[in-house]
Amino acid sequence: MKKLFIKTYGCQMNVYDSVRMAELLAPLGYAPADGAADADMVILNTCHIREKAAEKVYSELGRLKRLKEARAAKGGRMIVAVAGCVAQAEGKEMLARQGAVDIVVGPQSYHRLPEMIARIARGAGHVLETDFPAEDKFDSLPEQRAHVGPAAFLTVQEGCDRFCTFCVVPYTRGNEYSRPVAQVTAEAERLAANGAREITLLGQNVNAYRGIGPDGERWSLALLLAALAKVKGLDRLRYMTSHPSDMSDDLIAAHGDIAALMPFLHLPVQSGSDSVLHAMNRQHTADEYLRIVERVRAARPDLALSSDFIVGFPGESEADFEATLALIRRVGYAQTYSFKYSARPGTPAAAAHNQIPDEVKDARLQVLQALLTEQLHAFNVTCAGRIMPVLFESRGRKDGQALGRSPWLQPVHVEGAAPLIGEIAEVRIEEVQPNSLKGALVRPAVRERVLVQ
Ligand code: SAH
Ligand code: SF4
Ligand code: F3S
Repeated sequence: MKKLFIKTYGCQMNVYDSVRMAELLAPLGYAPADGAADADMVILNTCHIREKAAEKVYSELGRLKRLKEARAAKGGRMIVAVAGCVAQAEGKEMLARQGAVDIVVGPQSYHRLPEMIARIARGAGHVLETDFPAEDKFDSLPEQRAHVGPAAFLTVQEGCDRFCTFCVVPYTRGNEYSRPVAQVTAEAERLAANGAREITLLGQNVNAYRGIGPDGERWSLALLLAALAKVKGLDRLRYMTSHPSDMSDDLIAAHGDIAALMPFLHLPVQSGSDSVLHAMNRQHTADEYLRIVERVRAARPDLALSSDFIVGFPGESEADFEATLALIRRVGYAQTYSFKYSARPGTPAAAAHNQIPDEVKDARLQVLQALLTEQLHAFNVTCAGRIMPVLFESRGRKDGQALGRSPWLQPVHVEGAAPLIGEIAEVRIEEVQPNSLKGALVRPAVRERVLVQ
Protein backbone atom coordinates (compact mmCIF):
# COMPACT_ATOMS: atom_id res chain seq x y z
CA MET A 1 0.00 0.00 0.00
CA LYS A 2 1.20 3.50 -0.89
CA LYS A 3 0.06 6.60 0.92
CA LEU A 4 -1.48 9.71 -0.63
CA PHE A 5 -1.88 13.10 1.02
CA ILE A 6 -3.97 15.80 -0.64
CA LYS A 7 -4.04 19.35 0.69
CA THR A 8 -6.87 21.44 -0.69
CA TYR A 9 -7.00 25.22 -0.97
CA GLY A 10 -9.65 27.50 -2.45
CA CYS A 11 -13.24 26.84 -3.36
CA GLN A 12 -15.61 23.86 -3.09
CA MET A 13 -14.81 22.91 -6.66
CA ASN A 14 -11.29 22.14 -5.52
CA VAL A 15 -12.74 20.09 -2.63
CA TYR A 16 -14.72 18.09 -5.19
CA ASP A 17 -11.69 17.67 -7.46
CA SER A 18 -9.60 16.42 -4.52
CA VAL A 19 -12.18 13.73 -3.78
CA ARG A 20 -12.14 12.68 -7.44
CA MET A 21 -8.32 12.57 -7.51
CA ALA A 22 -8.26 10.34 -4.42
CA GLU A 23 -10.78 8.01 -6.11
CA LEU A 24 -8.74 8.01 -9.30
CA LEU A 25 -5.55 7.01 -7.50
CA ALA A 26 -7.08 4.40 -5.15
CA PRO A 27 -6.93 1.62 -7.80
CA LEU A 28 -3.19 2.35 -8.12
CA GLY A 29 -2.81 1.34 -4.48
CA TYR A 30 -2.86 4.79 -2.88
CA ALA A 31 -4.59 4.94 0.51
CA PRO A 32 -5.10 8.18 2.47
CA ALA A 33 -2.14 9.35 4.60
CA ASP A 34 -2.56 11.28 7.86
CA GLY A 35 -0.11 13.93 6.79
CA ALA A 36 2.53 14.82 4.23
CA ALA A 37 5.35 13.32 6.31
CA ASP A 38 4.27 9.70 5.76
CA ALA A 39 3.05 10.12 2.17
CA ASP A 40 4.48 8.56 -1.00
CA MET A 41 2.59 11.12 -2.98
CA VAL A 42 1.49 14.63 -2.01
CA ILE A 43 -0.91 16.69 -4.09
CA LEU A 44 -1.40 20.38 -3.40
CA ASN A 45 -4.71 21.34 -4.97
CA THR A 46 -4.18 25.07 -5.21
CA CYS A 47 -6.09 28.34 -5.53
CA HIS A 48 -5.00 31.45 -7.44
CA ILE A 49 -7.88 33.77 -6.60
CA ARG A 50 -5.91 36.16 -4.36
CA GLU A 51 -2.20 36.77 -3.91
CA LYS A 52 -2.19 35.31 -0.39
CA ALA A 53 -3.77 32.06 -1.58
CA ALA A 54 -1.10 31.58 -4.25
CA GLU A 55 1.77 32.49 -1.89
CA LYS A 56 0.65 29.87 0.64
CA VAL A 57 1.41 27.21 -1.96
CA TYR A 58 5.03 28.26 -2.29
CA SER A 59 5.60 28.22 1.47
CA GLU A 60 4.01 24.75 1.65
CA LEU A 61 6.28 23.60 -1.19
CA GLY A 62 9.31 24.77 0.79
CA ARG A 63 8.20 22.55 3.68
CA LEU A 64 7.54 19.62 1.33
CA LYS A 65 11.00 19.98 -0.19
CA ARG A 66 12.54 19.28 3.22
CA LEU A 67 10.23 16.28 3.83
CA LYS A 68 11.03 14.95 0.38
CA GLU A 69 14.78 15.24 1.03
CA ALA A 70 14.45 13.55 4.43
CA ARG A 71 12.57 10.70 2.78
CA ALA A 72 15.14 10.38 -0.01
CA ALA A 73 17.92 10.26 2.62
CA LYS A 74 16.23 7.14 3.99
CA GLY A 75 16.05 5.59 0.52
CA GLY A 76 12.37 6.48 0.03
CA ARG A 77 10.61 8.59 -2.53
CA MET A 78 7.91 11.23 -2.43
CA ILE A 79 6.17 12.44 -5.56
CA VAL A 80 5.02 16.06 -5.27
CA ALA A 81 2.21 17.20 -7.55
CA VAL A 82 0.71 20.66 -7.81
CA ALA A 83 -2.86 20.68 -9.12
CA GLY A 84 -5.56 23.33 -9.32
CA CYS A 85 -5.53 26.96 -10.37
CA VAL A 86 -1.95 27.95 -9.43
CA ALA A 87 -0.75 24.97 -11.49
CA GLN A 88 -2.85 26.17 -14.41
CA ALA A 89 -1.78 29.81 -14.08
CA GLU A 90 1.93 29.27 -13.52
CA GLY A 91 2.62 25.98 -15.30
CA LYS A 92 6.26 25.77 -16.30
CA GLU A 93 7.33 28.65 -14.05
CA MET A 94 6.30 26.53 -11.10
CA LEU A 95 8.78 23.80 -12.05
CA ALA A 96 11.51 26.40 -12.45
CA ARG A 97 10.73 28.16 -9.17
CA GLN A 98 10.45 25.07 -6.96
CA GLY A 99 12.60 22.06 -7.82
CA ALA A 100 10.74 19.74 -5.42
CA VAL A 101 7.74 19.66 -7.79
CA ASP A 102 7.45 16.52 -9.97
CA ILE A 103 4.05 17.06 -11.52
CA VAL A 104 2.09 20.18 -12.48
CA VAL A 105 -1.46 19.39 -13.51
CA GLY A 106 -4.27 21.83 -14.33
CA PRO A 107 -7.91 21.44 -13.18
CA GLN A 108 -9.00 20.16 -16.60
CA SER A 109 -6.39 17.42 -16.95
CA TYR A 110 -6.15 15.67 -13.58
CA HIS A 111 -7.82 12.55 -14.97
CA ARG A 112 -4.44 11.97 -16.64
CA LEU A 113 -2.63 11.66 -13.27
CA PRO A 114 -2.15 7.86 -13.40
CA GLU A 115 -0.34 8.18 -16.72
CA MET A 116 1.72 11.11 -15.39
CA ILE A 117 2.74 9.13 -12.31
CA ALA A 118 3.80 6.26 -14.59
CA ARG A 119 5.95 8.67 -16.58
CA ILE A 120 7.63 9.88 -13.37
CA ALA A 121 8.24 6.25 -12.34
CA ARG A 122 9.92 5.64 -15.71
CA GLY A 123 12.29 8.53 -14.93
CA ALA A 124 10.63 11.37 -16.82
CA GLY A 125 11.93 14.01 -14.40
CA HIS A 126 9.06 16.51 -14.48
CA VAL A 127 5.65 16.25 -16.05
CA LEU A 128 3.47 19.20 -16.99
CA GLU A 129 -0.15 18.99 -18.17
CA THR A 130 -2.02 22.26 -18.37
CA ASP A 131 -3.96 21.82 -21.61
CA PHE A 132 -7.69 21.93 -21.85
CA PRO A 133 -7.95 18.43 -23.34
CA ALA A 134 -10.57 17.50 -25.89
CA GLU A 135 -11.74 14.40 -24.03
CA ASP A 136 -14.29 14.70 -21.24
CA LYS A 137 -12.45 14.58 -17.92
CA PHE A 138 -15.59 13.29 -16.21
CA ASP A 139 -15.90 10.38 -18.64
CA SER A 140 -12.33 9.37 -17.80
CA LEU A 141 -12.80 9.37 -14.03
CA PRO A 142 -13.76 6.18 -12.19
CA GLU A 143 -17.44 5.77 -11.39
CA GLN A 144 -17.40 4.62 -7.82
CA ARG A 145 -17.98 7.24 -5.21
CA ALA A 146 -17.73 4.82 -2.33
CA HIS A 147 -17.14 6.79 0.85
CA VAL A 148 -19.42 9.77 0.76
CA GLY A 149 -20.64 11.74 3.72
CA PRO A 150 -24.26 12.81 4.27
CA ALA A 151 -23.59 16.11 2.47
CA ALA A 152 -21.73 15.85 -0.84
CA PHE A 153 -20.53 18.19 -3.56
CA LEU A 154 -21.19 17.54 -7.22
CA THR A 155 -19.60 19.68 -9.93
CA VAL A 156 -22.07 20.24 -12.78
CA GLN A 157 -20.53 23.24 -14.50
CA GLU A 158 -16.96 24.43 -14.91
CA GLY A 159 -15.25 27.53 -16.19
CA CYS A 160 -16.53 31.05 -16.63
CA ASP A 161 -17.19 33.32 -19.62
CA ARG A 162 -17.96 36.47 -17.63
CA PHE A 163 -14.50 37.97 -17.28
CA CYS A 164 -15.02 40.17 -14.25
CA THR A 165 -12.01 42.48 -14.43
CA PHE A 166 -10.54 41.36 -11.07
CA CYS A 167 -10.86 37.61 -11.50
CA VAL A 168 -8.50 34.85 -12.63
CA VAL A 169 -11.11 32.09 -12.94
CA PRO A 170 -11.84 32.48 -16.68
CA TYR A 171 -8.09 32.05 -17.29
CA THR A 172 -7.46 29.17 -14.88
CA ARG A 173 -10.65 27.20 -15.49
CA GLY A 174 -11.34 28.08 -19.10
CA ASN A 175 -14.64 28.49 -20.93
CA GLU A 176 -18.00 27.56 -19.47
CA TYR A 177 -18.81 23.90 -19.82
CA SER A 178 -21.87 22.05 -18.47
CA ARG A 179 -21.92 18.32 -17.84
CA PRO A 180 -24.73 16.41 -19.56
CA VAL A 181 -27.87 15.90 -17.46
CA ALA A 182 -27.65 12.08 -17.60
CA GLN A 183 -24.05 12.14 -16.32
CA VAL A 184 -25.04 14.40 -13.42
CA THR A 185 -28.13 12.39 -12.44
CA ALA A 186 -26.16 9.13 -12.58
CA GLU A 187 -23.55 10.59 -10.23
CA ALA A 188 -26.24 11.97 -7.91
CA GLU A 189 -27.91 8.55 -7.78
CA ARG A 190 -24.61 6.91 -6.85
CA LEU A 191 -24.01 9.54 -4.16
CA ALA A 192 -27.48 8.99 -2.72
CA ALA A 193 -27.08 5.20 -2.85
CA ASN A 194 -23.85 5.62 -0.87
CA GLY A 195 -25.39 7.72 1.86
CA ALA A 196 -25.60 11.31 0.65
CA ARG A 197 -28.79 13.05 1.82
CA GLU A 198 -27.78 16.48 0.57
CA ILE A 199 -26.02 17.50 -2.62
CA THR A 200 -24.60 20.91 -3.45
CA LEU A 201 -24.33 21.41 -7.19
CA LEU A 202 -21.15 23.27 -7.95
CA GLY A 203 -19.96 25.51 -10.74
CA GLN A 204 -17.87 28.67 -11.00
CA ASN A 205 -21.01 30.09 -12.54
CA VAL A 206 -23.46 27.31 -11.76
CA ASN A 207 -26.67 29.10 -12.66
CA ALA A 208 -25.39 29.50 -16.23
CA TYR A 209 -25.73 25.67 -16.41
CA ARG A 210 -26.85 24.56 -19.87
CA GLY A 211 -26.23 20.80 -20.00
CA ILE A 212 -27.47 18.57 -22.79
CA GLY A 213 -30.59 16.76 -21.59
CA PRO A 214 -31.77 13.27 -22.54
CA ASP A 215 -34.12 14.96 -25.05
CA GLY A 216 -31.18 16.56 -26.87
CA GLU A 217 -32.18 20.05 -25.65
CA ARG A 218 -30.08 22.25 -23.36
CA TRP A 219 -31.45 22.07 -19.82
CA SER A 220 -31.37 24.97 -17.38
CA LEU A 221 -30.25 24.62 -13.77
CA ALA A 222 -33.92 24.80 -12.70
CA LEU A 223 -34.76 21.76 -14.84
CA LEU A 224 -31.73 19.89 -13.53
CA LEU A 225 -32.73 20.65 -9.93
CA ALA A 226 -36.27 19.42 -10.57
CA ALA A 227 -34.86 16.14 -11.96
CA LEU A 228 -32.50 15.69 -9.01
CA ALA A 229 -35.28 16.37 -6.51
CA LYS A 230 -36.77 13.06 -7.67
CA VAL A 231 -33.65 11.03 -6.83
CA LYS A 232 -34.51 8.59 -4.05
CA GLY A 233 -32.84 9.43 -0.75
CA LEU A 234 -31.90 12.99 -1.67
CA ASP A 235 -33.67 15.36 0.71
CA ARG A 236 -31.69 18.51 0.25
CA LEU A 237 -30.34 20.35 -2.76
CA ARG A 238 -28.20 23.46 -2.92
CA TYR A 239 -26.18 25.17 -5.62
CA MET A 240 -23.28 27.60 -5.76
CA THR A 241 -21.84 29.96 -6.99
CA SER A 242 -24.29 32.03 -8.96
CA HIS A 243 -23.97 35.21 -10.94
CA PRO A 244 -26.87 37.66 -10.40
CA SER A 245 -27.36 38.15 -14.14
CA ASP A 246 -27.94 34.41 -14.58
CA MET A 247 -30.82 34.24 -12.06
CA SER A 248 -33.35 33.24 -14.72
CA ASP A 249 -37.12 33.33 -14.16
CA ASP A 250 -37.37 29.52 -13.98
CA LEU A 251 -34.59 29.33 -11.40
CA ILE A 252 -36.27 31.96 -9.24
CA ALA A 253 -39.54 30.03 -9.52
CA ALA A 254 -37.74 26.79 -8.61
CA HIS A 255 -37.03 28.27 -5.17
CA GLY A 256 -40.76 28.24 -4.53
CA ASP A 257 -41.58 24.99 -6.33
CA ILE A 258 -38.89 22.54 -5.28
CA ALA A 259 -39.22 21.63 -1.61
CA ALA A 260 -35.81 19.92 -1.54
CA LEU A 261 -34.11 23.13 -2.66
CA MET A 262 -32.87 24.65 0.60
CA PRO A 263 -33.89 28.21 1.50
CA PHE A 264 -30.40 29.59 1.20
CA LEU A 265 -28.82 31.39 -1.74
CA HIS A 266 -25.23 32.47 -2.23
CA LEU A 267 -25.52 35.36 -4.65
CA PRO A 268 -22.30 37.41 -4.73
CA VAL A 269 -22.70 41.11 -5.44
CA GLN A 270 -19.09 42.29 -4.75
CA SER A 271 -20.04 45.98 -4.47
CA GLY A 272 -23.09 48.19 -4.00
CA SER A 273 -21.79 51.00 -6.21
CA ASP A 274 -22.89 51.13 -9.84
CA SER A 275 -19.64 52.68 -11.02
CA VAL A 276 -17.56 49.99 -9.28
CA LEU A 277 -19.88 47.25 -10.57
CA HIS A 278 -19.40 48.69 -14.05
CA ALA A 279 -15.60 48.81 -13.69
CA MET A 280 -15.73 45.23 -12.45
CA ASN A 281 -17.69 44.23 -15.58
CA ARG A 282 -20.38 42.64 -13.40
CA GLN A 283 -23.04 43.54 -15.99
CA HIS A 284 -25.76 44.58 -13.54
CA THR A 285 -26.52 47.54 -11.29
CA ALA A 286 -27.11 47.57 -7.54
CA ASP A 287 -30.84 48.12 -8.13
CA GLU A 288 -31.06 45.17 -10.51
CA TYR A 289 -29.43 43.00 -7.85
CA LEU A 290 -31.90 44.20 -5.21
CA ARG A 291 -34.80 43.40 -7.54
CA ILE A 292 -33.52 39.85 -8.05
CA VAL A 293 -33.21 39.40 -4.28
CA GLU A 294 -36.78 40.64 -3.85
CA ARG A 295 -38.07 38.19 -6.45
CA VAL A 296 -36.28 35.15 -4.97
CA ARG A 297 -37.56 36.16 -1.55
CA ALA A 298 -41.08 36.43 -2.91
CA ALA A 299 -40.77 32.89 -4.30
CA ARG A 300 -39.36 31.55 -1.04
CA PRO A 301 -40.14 33.82 1.92
CA ASP A 302 -37.85 32.01 4.39
CA LEU A 303 -34.85 32.42 2.05
CA ALA A 304 -31.57 33.58 3.63
CA LEU A 305 -28.91 35.24 1.55
CA SER A 306 -25.18 35.08 1.36
CA SER A 307 -22.69 37.07 -0.72
CA ASP A 308 -19.07 37.85 -1.49
CA PHE A 309 -17.72 41.40 -1.23
CA ILE A 310 -14.53 43.02 -2.45
CA VAL A 311 -13.34 46.26 -0.82
CA GLY A 312 -10.73 48.55 -2.31
CA PHE A 313 -11.31 47.74 -5.96
CA PRO A 314 -9.30 50.25 -8.09
CA GLY A 315 -11.00 53.65 -8.00
CA GLU A 316 -13.40 52.77 -5.16
CA SER A 317 -14.23 56.09 -3.48
CA GLU A 318 -15.57 56.60 0.03
CA ALA A 319 -19.02 57.15 -1.53
CA ASP A 320 -18.74 53.88 -3.48
CA PHE A 321 -17.87 52.07 -0.28
CA GLU A 322 -20.83 53.71 1.49
CA ALA A 323 -23.06 52.42 -1.31
CA THR A 324 -21.87 48.89 -0.53
CA LEU A 325 -22.77 49.36 3.13
CA ALA A 326 -26.17 50.72 2.11
CA LEU A 327 -26.84 47.68 -0.08
CA ILE A 328 -25.88 45.35 2.76
CA ARG A 329 -28.32 47.17 5.06
CA ARG A 330 -31.06 46.85 2.45
CA VAL A 331 -30.56 43.10 1.92
CA GLY A 332 -29.67 41.80 5.38
CA TYR A 333 -27.33 38.83 4.91
CA ALA A 334 -27.17 35.60 6.87
CA GLN A 335 -23.62 34.76 5.86
CA THR A 336 -20.90 36.43 3.79
CA TYR A 337 -17.31 36.35 2.61
CA SER A 338 -15.41 39.61 2.22
CA PHE A 339 -12.00 40.31 0.81
CA LYS A 340 -9.57 43.10 0.14
CA TYR A 341 -9.05 43.55 -3.57
CA SER A 342 -5.94 41.67 -4.64
CA ALA A 343 -4.35 42.58 -7.98
CA ARG A 344 -3.98 39.42 -10.04
CA PRO A 345 -1.44 39.24 -12.84
CA GLY A 346 -3.01 39.27 -16.28
CA THR A 347 -6.42 40.61 -15.21
CA PRO A 348 -7.53 44.05 -16.51
CA ALA A 349 -8.06 45.61 -13.05
CA ALA A 350 -4.47 44.82 -12.04
CA ALA A 351 -3.28 47.33 -14.65
CA ALA A 352 -5.58 50.14 -13.44
CA HIS A 353 -3.72 53.28 -12.34
CA ASN A 354 -6.09 54.12 -9.49
CA GLN A 355 -5.18 51.32 -7.04
CA ILE A 356 -6.32 51.83 -3.44
CA PRO A 357 -3.69 51.95 -0.66
CA ASP A 358 -3.61 48.94 1.61
CA GLU A 359 -4.42 50.97 4.76
CA VAL A 360 -7.65 52.18 3.15
CA LYS A 361 -8.59 48.62 2.16
CA ASP A 362 -7.89 47.45 5.72
CA ALA A 363 -10.03 50.18 7.26
CA ARG A 364 -12.94 49.53 4.86
CA LEU A 365 -12.78 45.79 5.37
CA GLN A 366 -13.02 46.31 9.13
CA VAL A 367 -16.11 48.49 8.85
CA LEU A 368 -17.72 46.11 6.34
CA GLN A 369 -17.04 43.03 8.42
CA ALA A 370 -18.36 44.64 11.59
CA LEU A 371 -21.69 45.26 9.82
CA LEU A 372 -21.75 41.76 8.32
CA THR A 373 -20.98 40.13 11.67
CA GLU A 374 -23.86 42.09 13.20
CA GLN A 375 -26.18 40.82 10.47
CA LEU A 376 -25.01 37.23 10.86
CA HIS A 377 -25.69 37.42 14.58
CA ALA A 378 -29.08 39.05 14.04
CA PHE A 379 -30.05 36.23 11.69
CA ASN A 380 -28.90 33.55 14.13
CA VAL A 381 -30.87 35.22 16.94
CA THR A 382 -34.07 34.87 14.88
CA CYS A 383 -33.47 31.10 15.04
CA ALA A 384 -33.44 30.85 18.84
CA GLY A 385 -36.37 28.78 20.10
CA ARG A 386 -37.28 27.59 16.61
CA ILE A 387 -37.61 23.96 15.56
CA MET A 388 -35.81 23.06 12.36
CA PRO A 389 -34.60 19.97 10.52
CA VAL A 390 -30.87 19.35 10.92
CA LEU A 391 -28.81 17.00 8.76
CA PHE A 392 -26.20 15.42 11.02
CA GLU A 393 -22.85 15.10 9.29
CA SER A 394 -20.16 14.29 11.87
CA ARG A 395 -19.30 13.68 15.50
CA GLY A 396 -18.82 16.64 17.79
CA ARG A 397 -15.99 17.17 20.25
CA LYS A 398 -18.01 15.90 23.20
CA ASP A 399 -19.05 12.28 23.63
CA GLY A 400 -22.34 11.51 21.92
CA GLN A 401 -22.53 14.98 20.37
CA ALA A 402 -23.15 15.39 16.65
CA LEU A 403 -22.65 18.32 14.30
CA GLY A 404 -25.09 19.10 11.56
CA ARG A 405 -26.39 21.87 9.35
CA SER A 406 -29.65 23.75 9.42
CA PRO A 407 -31.48 24.44 6.13
CA TRP A 408 -29.68 27.83 6.23
CA LEU A 409 -26.24 26.19 6.44
CA GLN A 410 -25.72 27.16 10.07
CA PRO A 411 -23.62 24.64 12.03
CA VAL A 412 -25.77 23.09 14.78
CA HIS A 413 -24.44 20.88 17.56
CA VAL A 414 -26.66 18.56 19.53
CA GLU A 415 -25.89 16.30 22.50
CA GLY A 416 -26.91 12.68 22.16
CA ALA A 417 -27.37 12.95 18.40
CA ALA A 418 -24.29 10.90 17.40
CA PRO A 419 -26.40 7.84 16.43
CA LEU A 420 -28.24 10.08 13.98
CA ILE A 421 -25.26 10.90 11.77
CA GLY A 422 -26.46 10.66 8.18
CA GLU A 423 -30.05 11.42 9.24
CA ILE A 424 -32.24 14.49 9.31
CA ALA A 425 -33.92 15.18 12.63
CA GLU A 426 -36.01 17.94 14.13
CA VAL A 427 -34.01 20.09 16.51
CA ARG A 428 -35.04 22.92 18.83
CA ILE A 429 -32.46 25.71 18.86
CA GLU A 430 -31.63 26.48 22.47
CA GLU A 431 -28.67 28.78 22.30
CA VAL A 432 -27.02 31.05 19.76
CA GLN A 433 -23.23 30.86 20.04
CA PRO A 434 -20.73 33.00 18.10
CA ASN A 435 -20.02 30.42 15.39
CA SER A 436 -22.77 27.86 15.77
CA LEU A 437 -26.17 27.03 17.22
CA LYS A 438 -26.77 24.66 20.10
CA GLY A 439 -29.87 22.53 19.85
CA ALA A 440 -31.75 19.61 21.39
CA LEU A 441 -33.51 16.75 19.63
CA VAL A 442 -37.26 17.13 19.43
CA ARG A 443 -38.13 13.66 18.23
CA PRO A 444 -36.36 10.73 16.63
CA ALA A 445 -34.95 11.00 13.14
CA VAL A 446 -37.46 11.11 10.34
CA ARG A 447 -36.68 9.21 7.18
CA GLU A 448 -39.43 10.73 5.14
CA ARG A 449 -38.74 13.87 3.14
CA VAL A 450 -38.45 16.78 5.54
CA LEU A 451 -40.25 19.90 4.50
CA VAL A 452 -38.99 23.18 5.77
CA GLN A 453 -41.71 25.21 7.38
N1 SAH B 1 -18.04 32.89 -9.58
C1 SAH B 1 -18.18 33.58 -8.39
C2 SAH B 1 -16.89 33.92 -7.68
C3 SAH B 1 -15.75 33.00 -7.63
S1 SAH B 1 -14.35 33.64 -6.83
C4 SAH B 1 -18.95 34.88 -8.64
O1 SAH B 1 -19.02 35.36 -9.73
O2 SAH B 1 -19.42 35.43 -7.71
C5 SAH B 1 -14.93 33.85 -5.16
C6 SAH B 1 -14.84 35.25 -4.67
O3 SAH B 1 -13.51 35.65 -4.53
C7 SAH B 1 -15.46 36.29 -5.55
O4 SAH B 1 -16.85 36.34 -5.41
C8 SAH B 1 -14.78 37.55 -5.09
O5 SAH B 1 -15.48 38.15 -4.05
C9 SAH B 1 -13.44 37.05 -4.58
N2 SAH B 1 -12.37 37.46 -5.49
C10 SAH B 1 -12.15 37.04 -6.76
N3 SAH B 1 -11.09 37.67 -7.29
C11 SAH B 1 -10.60 38.50 -6.33
C12 SAH B 1 -9.52 39.42 -6.27
N4 SAH B 1 -8.72 39.62 -7.30
N5 SAH B 1 -9.33 40.08 -5.10
C13 SAH B 1 -10.14 39.91 -4.04
N6 SAH B 1 -11.18 39.06 -4.06
C14 SAH B 1 -11.41 38.36 -5.18
FE1 SF4 C 1 -14.77 35.29 -11.64
FE2 SF4 C 1 -17.25 34.80 -10.87
FE3 SF4 C 1 -16.71 36.88 -12.40
FE4 SF4 C 1 -16.54 34.45 -13.40
S1 SF4 C 1 -18.40 35.48 -12.67
S2 SF4 C 1 -15.08 36.08 -13.72
S3 SF4 C 1 -15.77 33.32 -11.64
S4 SF4 C 1 -16.02 36.55 -10.27
FE1 F3S D 1 -9.43 29.37 -6.35
FE2 F3S D 1 -9.53 28.25 -8.68
FE3 F3S D 1 -11.54 27.97 -7.00
S1 F3S D 1 -8.66 30.21 -8.24
S2 F3S D 1 -11.49 29.87 -5.89
S3 F3S D 1 -9.51 27.21 -6.71
S4 F3S D 1 -11.68 28.19 -9.19
